[in-house]
Amino acid sequence: MTALHIVGVGGHAKVIVALAQALKLEIAGLYDDHPQAGAVLGCPLLGRVTDLPDSPDTLAVLAIGNNALRRDLAGRFSQVRWATLIHPAAWVHHSAVLGAGTVIMAGAVLQPDARLGRHTIVNTGATVDHDCQLGDYVHVAPGCTLAGNVTLGEGTFLGVGARVIPGCTIEAWSVVGAGGVVVRDLAAGVTAVGVPARVRQA
Ligand SMILES: CC(C)(COP(=O)(O)OP(=O)(O)OC[C@H]1O[C@@H](n2cnc3c(N)ncnc32)[C@H](O)[C@@H]1OP(=O)(O)O)[C@@H](O)C(=O)NCCC(=O)NCCS
Repeated sequence: MTALHIVGVGGHAKVIVALAQALKLEIAGLYDDHPQAGAVLGCPLLGRVTDLPDSPDTLAVLAIGNNALRRDLAGRFSQVRWATLIHPAAWVHHSAVLGAGTVIMAGAVLQPDARLGRHTIVNTGATVDHDCQLGDYVHVAPGCTLAGNVTLGEGTFLGVGARVIPGCTIEAWSVVGAGGVVVRDLAAGVTAVGVPARVRQA
């Protein structure tokens, strides 16, 4: 079995380590540049991010919740094989398509024909319904609900418990605050909060 290398040591990394343990994967260790970085759930810190071997023999996952940082880190490696991980307590329909590096946490549900890009996170207990399309570097936080035919552009972040009604499109690098309910399309790069979610003026 190829051992899994994990980039990151924060709270999201803890959940990724737990996911890898639930899958009974061998974990090589962790990489992070933070001066106070250390072991996570018994998995050792192996070095800085630049110490991750950029090789096709390396199987790795980016365990960082911040979408822009995940994109930047992915761009630093051209040879690494990115692991796609699905928690055994998630339910993913066989027609769903998941890109490299995408992770599905415990209790999440992916319904038929959901299509997810690379390095996307569907966090604890979130649901992604039929025909949803999620781009690369999306983060759907715990407890979110996406109805059918929702489209999330690259880098979209939905805060905990956010909901999106059927057919809405949220364009790239937008943020929906915790508990927000999206009832209309959102343009790129905006932050929307509340019920119904309204764009917050900068
Ligand atoms: C929307 C969000 C990104 C805004 O963060 P921010 O720019 O730091 O905003 P602030 O905390 O400075 O708040 C600015 C204003 O927006 C309001 N606000 C913040 N988040 C809100 C939310 N989710 N719903 C409604 N209003 C919100 C604040 O009350 C404040 O209002 P005020 O100016 O009248 O006092 C953030 O509050 C949020 O919801 N993050 C989600 C975090 C999350 O779910 N993480 C999951 C990790 S797995």
